[in-house]
Amino acid sequence: MSRAFNFCAGPATLPEAVLKQAQSEMLDWRGTGMSVMEMSHRSDEFVNIAETAEQDLRELAGISDDYAVLFMQGGASSQFATIPLNLLGDKTSADYVNTGIWSKKAIAEAKRYADVNVAASSEDTGFTTIPEQSVWNTRADAAYLHYTPNETIGGLEYDFIPDSGDVPLVADMSSTMLSRPVDVNKFGLIYAGAQKNIGPSGLVVVIIRKDLLGKARQQTPTMMNYQVIADNGSMYNTPATYSWYLAGLVFKWLKEQGGVQAMGEINARKARKLYDFIDGNDFYANPIDPRFRSWMNVPFTLADDALNSEFLKGADARGLLNLKGHRSVGGMRASIYNAMPEEGVDALIDYMAEFAKERG
Ligand SMILES: Cc1ncc(COP(=O)(O)O)c(C=O)c1O
Repeated sequence: MSRAFNFCAGPATLPEAVLKQAQSEMLDWRGTGMSVMEMSHRSDEFVNIAETAEQDLRELAGISDDYAVLFMQGGASSQFATIPLNLLGDKTSADYVNTGIWSKKAIAEAKRYADVNVAASSEDTGFTTIPEQSVWNTRADAAYLHYTPNETIGGLEYDFIPDSGDVPLVADMSSTMLSRPVDVNKFGLIYAGAQKNIGPSGLVVVIIRKDLLGKARQQTPTMMNYQVIADNGSMYNTPATYSWYLAGLVFKWLKEQGGVQAMGEINARKARKLYDFIDGNDFYANPIDPRFRSWMNVPFTLADDALNSEFLKGADARGLLNLKGHRSVGGMRASIYNAMPEEGVDALIDYMAEFAKERG
């Protein structure tokens, strides 16, 4: 069976070259006679895999020595609690911007630990836009300002980095990490669940400015304490070794593609093509303010919801998989992360055009 174009929002498609390399190294990693999965995380071989992955990520994202890079577990969702537990310090309040379902989840969890101020929200628009920063009600005494640069479910993406002044800026970059160049120096902390642009699910990458380490509340579980994880090279316990290795292969692949600059150009082109097609065809619609349309997750509806299952069936038959929108919003969603080739987007557009012609 040949590989399909998989538009899943996550776990998402991985570069074929990466999967092939992992396959070829599965039984015997470079003459060691064993799989990476079977290696001690303390072995020279694995430590080298881990350090190389971190180094490649630092190069790709332009992460200076002022930041620690942590390879943690529990997905991005575990960070919703880990962040307040570590960053509140002697403060009690934190600012959050609510632009969709992932922001809301982060807010709900933070409320268990912090006095959360929702500095701005676009809920009244159905999360179709992002409030201008001039109307945000941020607080100078907040321990940090949290936002979600790309709302994976809604398909809503910031086209600016908020200015948080002296307050550390915290970003859930799960679905936009490494999709285009970003100035890491503007952030106190960046976190990203791996299963979109990095690797297998479960792994979460945390990039934290070193001066923010060491402030964890006394009751913070050891495994959630950034200082402990940093001091132990993300190996306080047994890390997710195979996921870390695969992430490393993805980083190498990204470097071969020309890094995040080249990726950003390709991603912009892929997204533009798809939105242009949707806008130019009466049969399809995307509800998001054009300025804030996501490059990574493109939700769209058909003129008649009754045709949804037929659309999905036809897509499946062509090897265009996982186009069903999130259960909370319905419709369709095409996730077009780094590993989705431009031909995948072209094939989707061809199918959409044909379907609209037949059924529109
Ligand atoms: C923006 C965003 N944040 C957080 C999460 C949760 O990630 P995880 O399932 O790794 O906990 C997701 C998952 O899709 C996401 O898209």
